Amino acid sequence: MRILSGIQPSGTIHIGNYFGMIKKMVEGQNDGELFAFIASYHALTTVKEKELLEKNIFEAAVNFLALGMDPEKSTFWVQHHVKEVLELYWILSNHTSMGLLERAHSYKDKTARGIQANHGLFSYPVLMAADILLFDSNIVPVGKDQIQHVEMTRDIANSFNNHYKTDILVLPEAKVDEVVATVPGTDGAKMSKSYGNTIDMFGSAKTIKKQVMGIVTDSKELHEPKDYTTCNIYKLCELFMNEDELNELQQRYATPGEGYGHFKMTLLDKINEHFAPYAARREELLNNPKEVNEILAHGAQKARKIAQVKMEKIRNIVGL
Ligand code: ADP
Ligand code: TRP
Repeated sequence: MRILSGIQPSGTIHIGNYFGMIKKMVEGQNDGELFAFIASYHALTTVKEKELLEKNIFEAAVNFLALGMDPEKSTFWVQHHVKEVLELYWILSNHTSMGLLERAHSYKDKTARGIQANHGLFSYPVLMAADILLFDSNIVPVGKDQIQHVEMTRDIANSFNNHYKTDILVLPEAKVDEVVATVPGTDGAKMSKSYGNTIDMFGSAKTIKKQVMGIVTDSKELHEPKDYTTCNIYKLCELFMNEDELNELQQRYATPGEGYGHFKMTLLDKINEHFAPYAARREELLNNPKEVNEILAHGAQKARKIAQVKMEKIRNIVGL
């Protein structure tokens, strides 16, 4: 079974990204054949500064590698290193109706938020379909907002297959993990970089401390017992602590004498302890772009081999 996922290189990553997506993906390397790429062409729809795009792509690669992406076990590459995807994108464009693209929620949401409505943004789902179909992906793990794009991929694949009376394009299934609790941000709402309520994974010690100290709580005082069930600090502690540690923390909430500042320090220690080994590996990779680029070149080579064979067949089918 082939699992494929694309990740937009979006700069800083936060612990919501980690627990919601990256951790599952890294662990999922044991469940099937994982194909994962950094969606650099897709990022062009929103990042139009050269240096920023370059930096984001490199850092996304470093982050994934530091967090456990195994380039031997999985195929891990940067989208624009395997240009066959653009050829498939063009071929598929001719089997994608305007109506299908006009119904895309993501396009409507993005333009409503002020992102320039241009052809790249409009045809984004066709490129995503090409990513998925080029590699015969069976399962595409995505967040809720991307389900429609996988459905559109199925529609496009179906119209291509029907037109040429073939089954060359494999229909993918979206996999949405409903159980993944949404990681709350420092204000209790979903942690998201667009809400400014994140705790960064690889920020400086000072930044992370400031973010943790900014977690919103009620105003109970030291001498009052506190309710852990409604506390944002506790909810975040749940991500890092085992059952015994959580029981002990519940006791501390029930016992007067400590304030929220103490609980925040406990959480901060846990966060630092959890990510320290990854941060060390990340530093190493950041200082060694040659190693990172070699890993990515190796991944691109593995991906390209598959892409070339697939494109040869598709060209034949359409008469190119
Ligand atoms: P953001 O909301 O910060 O812009 P993205 O939309 O770039 O994050 O999300 C990248 C990935 O991280 C997606 O797979 C998304 O499901 C996951 N993710 C983001 N925020 C959270 C969260 N608070 N809880 C769980 N998963 C999250
Ligand atoms: N559109 C996806 C997102 O914003 C990223 C992406 C691009 C992707 N191509 C893909 C995801 C192919 C899965 C499969 O998150």
